Amino acid sequence: MKFTHKIAKLAQPLMYRRAWRRAERMIRPVPLEPIYARIDQAKLAAIQAQYASSNEHYAKYADVRRWLRLNIVRAQDLNLHRCGPKSVLDLGCGGGFFLFVLQQLGHTCLGLDIDEFPLFTQLLELFHVERRIWAIQPFEPLPDLGRKFDFVTAFSIDFNRDSKRDWWWGPSEWTFFLDDLKRHLNPGGRIFLGLNPGKNKEFYTRELRDFFLSRGAWVERENVLLPPFSGEVAPA
Ligand SMILES: C[S@@+](CC[C@H](N)C(=O)[O-])C[C@H]1O[C@@H](n2cnc3c(N)ncnc32)[C@H](O)[C@@H]1O
Repeated sequence: MKFTHKIAKLAQPLMYRRAWRRAERMIRPVPLEPIYARIDQAKLAAIQAQYASSNEHYAKYADVRRWLRLNIVRAQDLNLHRCGPKSVLDLGCGGGFFLFVLQQLGHTCLGLDIDEFPLFTQLLELFHVERRIWAIQPFEPLPDLGRKFDFVTAFSIDFNRDSKRDWWWGPSEWTFFLDDLKRHLNPGGRIFLGLNPGKNKEFYTRELRDFFLSRGAWVERENVLLPPFSGEVAPA
């Protein structure tokens, strides 16, 4: 790459922010090995042997090191390695990698997901991550989860679409969902969304991006971080 090109790229705010986050991760690392060492290696080996020749798309999650590495980065980027204990709800938690990392960092965690992929159930058991089985549906409130949370996260979100008809939640579905989520947040609590791209490789329409911004969110590519919850819930 030409030097002038490099400079032009560095000048982009997104590049700066990413480089800054990388630097911050290096300054305050969260090493993988002590976290990996907490896993029952015999049980993990048995799970990996079971899925070694599987063609199932979700079998990729048996590569535990790879997904722990990614989820350590997620925890660092949300500064969850530099704060006191928090209660965290992860929606569409999958195999529970993110929550397993958080539990090693001292947080109290609950996952929520459908019960469709046996590998996820096996990994959640391996990681001792608690999961509530629940299918998120548009305009349907979440169930009573028995406690409130300081952070609600959702990575690589899948519940906001019907892939068969390439249909995605728009502002009205998200309005209902985010308003309902407030019931589950402690005052000051945050919501983080990691969106999946659609077939057109876009994470959102302009309308949806404007909607998130109108709610005071920080939006960067797939990442949407809502502002701290004031503690006020609109009357039903
Ligand atoms: C791409 S995976 C991401 C898993 C995990 N968040 C991660 O980043 O590793 C999408 C997850 O969303 C879950 N999911 C899909 N539809 C859902 C729904 N309606 N309600 C709750 N979870 C759902 C899937 O079971 C799966 O665990």
